[in-house]
Amino acid sequence: MCGIVGYTGRDQAAPILLDGLSRLEYRGYDSAGLAVRDGSAPAEVVKATGKLFHLADKTDQGRALRGQCGIGHTRWATHGDPTVINAHPHVSGNLAAPGSGAGDSDVVGVHNGIIENFTELKEKLLRHGYVFYSDTDTEVVVKLVDYYYKKYRIGPVDAITRTMVRVRGSYALALMFRDFPGEIFAARKDSPLIIGTAEDASYLASDVPAILKYTRSVYYIDNLQVARVSPGQAVFFDLNGDETAVPLTEVTWDAAAAEKDGFEHFMLKEIHEQPAAVRDTLNSLVKDGRIDLGAAGLAEDTIRSLTGIVIAACGSAWHVGMAAQYVIEDLAGIPVRVELASEFRYRSMPMAAGTLVIVISQSGETADSLAALRVAKERGALTLAVVNVVGSTIAREADLVLYTLAGPEIAVATTKAYSAQLIAMDALAVEMARVRGGITGEQYDHLLAEMAALPDKIRRVLEDKERLQWFSSKIVNAHDIFFIGRGLDYAVSLEGSLKMKEISYIHSEAYAAGELKHGTISLIEQGTLVIGVLTQGKLFEKTVSNMMECKSRGANLMGITVNGNFAVEDSVNFTVYVPRTDEHFVPSLAVVPLQLLGYYTSVSRGLDVDKPRNLAKSVTVE
Ligand code: AGP
Repeated sequence: MCGIVGYTGRDQAAPILLDGLSRLEYRGYDSAGLAVRDGSAPAEVVKATGKLFHLADKTDQGRALRGQCGIGHTRWATHGDPTVINAHPHVSGNLAAPGSGAGDSDVVGVHNGIIENFTELKEKLLRHGYVFYSDTDTEVVVKLVDYYYKKYRIGPVDAITRTMVRVRGSYALALMFRDFPGEIFAARKDSPLIIGTAEDASYLASDVPAILKYTRSVYYIDNLQVARVSPGQAVFFDLNGDETAVPLTEVTWDAAAAEKDGFEHFMLKEIHEQPAAVRDTLNSLVKDGRIDLGAAGLAEDTIRSLTGIVIAACGSAWHVGMAAQYVIEDLAGIPVRVELASEFRYRSMPMAAGTLVIVISQSGETADSLAALRVAKERGALTLAVVNVVGSTIAREADLVLYTLAGPEIAVATTKAYSAQLIAMDALAVEMARVRGGITGEQYDHLLAEMAALPDKIRRVLEDKERLQWFSSKIVNAHDIFFIGRGLDYAVSLEGSLKMKEISYIHSEAYAAGELKHGTISLIEQGTLVIGVLTQGKLFEKTVSNMMECKSRGANLMGITVNGNFAVEDSVNFTVYVPRTDEHFVPSLAVVPLQLLGYYTSVSRGLDVDKPRNLAKSVTVE
């Protein structure tokens, strides 16, 4: 996630801005920048890629940038690679040179969020003579504010509200106008932003840690509100430009708690960020109600010509592939093989003409997945990367790239990135099915609507977390846990098992329910926990009977199924229900209780949830 800071007051702004950005580093970023103005002089803009210390060095720890009003930004790239040109702040005019002054700009700004309709807005501004220097949606929104500011000769607040009505997506904006020295204007929708005030100084930030050192008096600006910030004062406006009141609150959190947004661990915070991760990833692939893979570079002719798909990945990303195979085969009718990247790279797998190799990777740096990508390319296959980190190695080396928009994931155990990959693969399957005539237009619309409804349904599943917390206390001393399912339920079982073992250190295995009787059922003994994933209607009875076989050998049972399917409740010890949705997409819901169960079990065992032993967030070694 990007980080925003702002300061206006009696002190030199740059050192305060750098300090604030350093307290937002945990949010993940790949470049940073400052814009500072000295009195009524135009803003000076300085930007740098990489870690924050590069920017600090470039500005002599801020001393080289004079002025008492400024904004700063750490960028997590979503639109445009992590370069100096794409780093924020962005200006309404042209940058004199990469990473330097604001030149003739009337508006300078920073942004956290995703402007979904930035392409159409950019075309509009190009028609009105604007010239663009970057690939970012942020430069578009800064220039759009400037456009309204000049066209209607209105004040900054009105120019911003006009812009807010016009853009679609999420944003937290901090803007400086040349004609209004010493003031910062802010606006937000769905992205976090707070405004703090102290004696003769005011502060803006994406998150509380950036300003706790200076003040605990904070305004939580609401969605679709605008703020006019001057030293020691903030005035708020609604979308109509009418002044409105925002309560001033006292922050009681300490900095560590604030980084996790009040959650105890990053993992729990990221579990709760899944609705947004799914929403943002899906919205990035849907334009005007249709899935548009243009940005990924996957043309319809290519989709029609496919003879087979190989998915290569590791860990949870491989589990996404295991789910995607069912959806792609069922909807698009394309044969899919899912391979562990660490195995695929050593095999001599023939690559038939028309094979698409999809490499799924959150980090885009996993050594085995990168090796698999290179082997696929050597074999002449077309390659598509599904990754979460813009500009990562796998993203750069694949022929085509589809980015997920989960934002940076701090916890080693993936949750929101897994869910973002899942929805991306679902969208890919639906679009492939449409192009290849596997579904009707009506089915296409229905499937799109079902995917769009998932974020709210994930929120509903999260409301059940206390029950999972209670059940985790019952299994805290378990030695073996088995997760079973068929089809998509088996794919979900794989992820549930990995979540459990990697953070609670309890041995667990995921099994295709029909395979249990071929040996492993001999491990079932009195008190062994067997968790059955039961969301696929046609397979429900069969998996239930496998669970009963385990129960007859002493197992305790937990079932996960869909609302209204009460048939299993009397036969198991604990049941979790998830909202109904098209069965292709149920994994996005069924995985959440399993994430929570693993999380709470780890917490109950007093373990380091975010940094489990022996594990790294990205396995860049073989
Ligand atoms: C999952 O919780 C683990 N963090 C791990 O299995 C991870 O999914 C795997 O290492 C793949 O990482 P990648 O998605 O960054 O390639």
